[in-house]
Amino acid sequence: MKLIRQRLVLGALLGTVFLGLLVLLVGQFLESWTSSTNLRPPSPKISLRKFEWQAWTPHPLDLNYPYPYPFLINHPDKCKGPRGAPFLLMLVMTQPQEVGVRQIIRQTWGNETLIPGVVICRLFVLGLPRPIFAQEIRVLLEEEDREHGDLLQVGFLDTYRNLTLKVLMGLEWMAQYCPTARYVLKVDNDVFLNPSFLVHEVLHPDQPPQPNFITGHIYTDSEPQRSLEDKWYMPPELYPQEKYPVYCGGPGYVLSVSLALRVLTVAQRLKPIYLEDVFIGLCIQELGVQPTPAPPDTFLTVRQEYEHCAFHQLALVHQFKPQELLQFWPDFQAVNDTCPKE
Ligand SMILES: *[C@@H]1O[C@H](CO)[C@@H](O)[C@H](O)[C@H]1NC(C)=O
Ligand SMILES: *[C@@H]1O[C@H](CO)[C@@H](O)[C@H](O)[C@H]1NC(C)=O
Ligand SMILES: *[C@@H]1O[C@H](CO)[C@@H](O)[C@H](O)[C@H]1NC(C)=O
Repeated sequence: MKLIRQRLVLGALLGTVFLGLLVLLVGQFLESWTSSTNLRPPSPKISLRKFEWQAWTPHPLDLNYPYPYPFLINHPDKCKGPRGAPFLLMLVMTQPQEVGVRQIIRQTWGNETLIPGVVICRLFVLGLPRPIFAQEIRVLLEEEDREHGDLLQVGFLDTYRNLTLKVLMGLEWMAQYCPTARYVLKVDNDVFLNPSFLVHEVLHPDQPPQPNFITGHIYTDSEPQRSLEDKWYMPPELYPQEKYPVYCGGPGYVLSVSLALRVLTVAQRLKPIYLEDVFIGLCIQELGVQPTPAPPDTFLTVRQEYEHCAFHQLALVHQFKPQELLQFWPDFQAVNDTCPKE
């Protein structure tokens, strides 16, 4: 009984200490927050405290980069196949558990041998699953990778807010194991992609590579979302400017490998932000490069219903579920002479 009471007292004491600490921290946070939103110049004492506070507690959206994240599943020779250096390296962003999604992508637009005479190298980039699922998923991934040999797993937690790390580590893989590819595509897993249009009408394998090339759906003059509920909320502490640079929208964009290598170099010294497409925009801005416009209306950011002829005249449409792809893919591939000729 006495022991229990002692424990209770101890618990209460610890609780009080903890609460006290919490109040202190919240107080400091509020102070640093108000001092950063106030228009008055902060006193030197406060700004010093604010500096200490920020040095000790990284912002929850801060990204740790550059950092030597390990490649946990890797295929160093994937790009050195018998077909020669790839024309296009496809980096497909997926999450560890999306085994079925990857399977559909392999059977549809991710097919490496879809375009005669053009070497495509496809890798799925993924991070780590949440620890509670880690064991089960590890077994699944090993089996999947034994069969297909196309997974690139990188050692950080796979979350939306960490997508920039995924893209940058994909580019690091390219720099290390596939620098002789001509172009690199970053693509999400919820799109329809028309590789043939992309290759022949946007990238033109018969022409010499363009060194400063990046294309996709180009956003100009867009502004950071400052309302907390927004999916793409950007805290002013992380990005104080009022405009984003010109950038190519995240669902799919292509860079020449020579530009991608320089983007990677610049990315080592710019502060990364969690919106990967905007961050790539910041990198090319730093390099003084402007995106090259693709043919008009060929990278669609808003879903459009499938239509055989229309879809043959574009490169990418966002917002398709993989199951939907599977349904219309046979029709898309079938020869159809009713489409108007160019
Ligand atoms: C990929 O495309 C080729 C050529 O059209 C086809 O023969 C092959 O079966 C496809 N592979 C998959 C996994 O669907
Ligand atoms: C990003 O990954 C790191 C390393 O695994 C992890 O500690 C961090 O919580 C992740 N960040 C976000 C915002 O998910
Ligand atoms: C060809 O495309 C048109 C227009 O999308 C469609 O109505 C027609 O059924 C297609 N024909 C074949 C043989 O697939």
